[in-house]
Amino acid sequence: MAEILKADDAMERALALLEDGQVVAIPTETVYGLAGDATRGDAVARIFEAKGRPRFNPLIAHVSGIVMASGIAVFDPLSEKLAQAFWPGPLTLVLPLARGATIHPLVTAGLDTVALRMPQGFGAQLIARLGRPLAAPSANSSGRITATTAEAVDADLGRKIPLIVDGGQTEVGLESTIIKVEGETLRLLRPGGIAAGVIEAIAGIPLLRGASAGVEAPGMLASHYAPGAAVRIGATRVMPGEALLAFGASRIADADKAVATLNLSASGNLREAATNLFSFMQALDRSGAPTIAVEPIPETGLGEAINDRLRRAAAPRDS
Ligand code: TXA
Ligand code: MG
Repeated sequence: MAEILKADDAMERALALLEDGQVVAIPTETVYGLAGDATRGDAVARIFEAKGRPRFNPLIAHVSGIVMASGIAVFDPLSEKLAQAFWPGPLTLVLPLARGATIHPLVTAGLDTVALRMPQGFGAQLIARLGRPLAAPSANSSGRITATTAEAVDADLGRKIPLIVDGGQTEVGLESTIIKVEGETLRLLRPGGIAAGVIEAIAGIPLLRGASAGVEAPGMLASHYAPGAAVRIGATRVMPGEALLAFGASRIADADKAVATLNLSASGNLREAATNLFSFMQALDRSGAPTIAVEPIPETGLGEAINDRLRRAAAPRDS
């Protein structure tokens, strides 16, 4: 069983485990991460093992700042500008791997690019103390809902990992936005905690969308973020027996018949909705309803990332 320590008391224990090649669940401002030393194959293999994640899916390497990052990846003026503007924060940059970088190839799945992010809070302090980058996918079993509380991590992975650092509910609630820097152009690989428009405003160029050659973010499998219940998006009425994930002030038809209802944001605030998304899906899942109906959510701002996660949760399941 995992030991659960409050972030204020967890630093030394987390460091000792990481120095030993073990994995530790840590809070970041986006979601909880399952962290291991990104320079050690044994540690990275333990991450994949605990998550039950396919090996071909590369991980984000988390850094303590641009100095550490520039030993791992090649920054050009555009990527440097984005890192300066958004780090620490929910922006992941996919950049060319630097020669001599000590990132283990399991982290990049053998690609010649690497995904980098500087997180806020406990994670950044931990990386600075360790002096090495941490590989950290979201702290959930592969294909399951992303965890935004220590309790959710414990329920999913508690039997498989030695330590969960409890930093309370994560602030952003969605994973980071992933941008691939391709020369003079920027490609949005995953919408996330920073709205695309905010990044475009700083970069001064529009983000390209959709994959270029090959599978650009192999982690973006169609079925992902799945609760136990089926998810039905764009609902216009609640069907018998369904739970309702609501948004905004007005309800769809037969909303009063839902077996359980949670409203992502009664005022229609997308930031609040993002923060609540995964924990509310989990709570509605626990209601035992076979299906969660979801009210329409606008595609603007953070709505793009929220709808992306909901579409994945609603996609046909492989297993
Ligand atoms: O907010 C977050 O990003 C969280 C917290 C813990 O930092 N982490 C997270 O990691 O969501 P993960 O492993 O669940 O998602 C990483 C995504 C995957 O979809 C993966 O395919 C993509 O990043 N990725 C990693 N390296 C890549 C690369 N070199 N090229 C393209 N995509 C890459
Ligand atoms: Mg994930």
